Amino acid sequence: MTDAQHGTEVHFDPFSADFYGDPHAFYPRLRAEAPVYYNDTYEFYALSRHADVAAGLRDFATFSSAYGVDLGMVRRGEKVPAKMLISIDPPEHRAMRSLVNKVFTPRAIEALRAMVDQTVDRFLSVARDGECSTFDVVQDFSVYFPVDVITQMLGVPEEYRQQVRLWIDESLHREPGQIDMSESGMQAMADMWLMYYQLIQERRERPREDMISALIAAEVEREDGTIERLRDSEIAGFATLLGGAGAETVTKLIGSAAVAFARHPDQWRQLLADRSKIGVAIEELLRYDAPVQYNVRRSNVDVTVHGVTIPAGAPVFLLGASANRDPEAWTAPDVFDIHRDRSEAPNLAFGYGIHSCLGAALARLEGAIALDKLLDLMPRYEVQWDGCRRVSMQNVSGWSHVPVRILR
Ligand code: HEM
Repeated sequence: MTDAQHGTEVHFDPFSADFYGDPHAFYPRLRAEAPVYYNDTYEFYALSRHADVAAGLRDFATFSSAYGVDLGMVRRGEKVPAKMLISIDPPEHRAMRSLVNKVFTPRAIEALRAMVDQTVDRFLSVARDGECSTFDVVQDFSVYFPVDVITQMLGVPEEYRQQVRLWIDESLHREPGQIDMSESGMQAMADMWLMYYQLIQERRERPREDMISALIAAEVEREDGTIERLRDSEIAGFATLLGGAGAETVTKLIGSAAVAFARHPDQWRQLLADRSKIGVAIEELLRYDAPVQYNVRRSNVDVTVHGVTIPAGAPVFLLGASANRDPEAWTAPDVFDIHRDRSEAPNLAFGYGIHSCLGAALARLEGAIALDKLLDLMPRYEVQWDGCRRVSMQNVSGWSHVPVRILR
């Protein structure tokens, strides 16, 4: 069940260069041989089967988010002081989530279509208008537009929008073996926090039609029943979370798309012939190559799974990306197939249960618009594999460089 020291050779190190290079190489043995894996170097447990990850994500009473959702935070064993939506449990979570839910409903997001379309188009125009037939799908395109969309929604001035991305990159980057945020990562978070704090003061004086102004005006019901305005720290925390969650993930989704379709050009041709399949293609990309590999929880009580007792207070990795390739849940899970039967199991790429992704509708819209425009730009293309690079980041996985050559 556990690490090499305990008698099996199954080894899972989510902070290793091997994991950053190919996380899916680890999951089949975890699921088959160590479904309740224990890593005695870093002292965490990991659940990898679809049924266990889904149950874990749903059971917020047993698996708490309040201590953070990455190993560095959870193993400190202290509740996160800066309360962000993603790191609070019910009942507080319920009140905060219902406050922001309405901004992110599929209907509300559909109203942003023109802005998203324009933003994606603006960043693709460099590649489209250039003479050259090569460009990097990630570095020249998909790193730019997701952060621009979410920071426009928040009301961040243009000169800071890409800076937000650089701050987030710094805070998530990990060298192999590094678990906690680096000093430069912490400095980046502090700088970003200060920028949001100043923006909140400006909007308090002169509100505009943006999310920061809406959050300033919003009221929330506290645990004791009192109704209050949000504090500056809560608004800044939410803005920080949205920037992070909204920027890195969609960037990775588009990088994965370029790689997956280069390996399956027949399916790219099918999309070219029928754009109505873009939506299901996005769902399959999310299942096959999830931008978020895992979320970490802290066990509130002793809990026994498959005969192994996870003690109270332990960090527990819920490996959504592994669950999405579990043969118990999906037919031929390692095959990329945009036509697959999606009713076989819930796709856990956006999480599951109360913390499931607030931005899912926005991510789907951004992804669909970006794929549509890439189909126009590069109906036939090949990836220059030697130039491909992957990120090494806490919980987010994918390509940092995907150079392609457009075939005319
Ligand atoms: C392909 C893109 C995306 C993926 C794969 C993704 C994935 C996820 C996952 C797995 C979770 C669950 C976290 C947990 O259980 O601890 C989550 C939560 C969240 N996501 Fe996303 N996300 C994406 C895009 C976005 C975007 C564009 C936004 C911004 C609007 C966003 C905002 C959030 C927020 C605020 C939460 C926390 C929700 C809560 O705790 O109630 N995400 N996301």
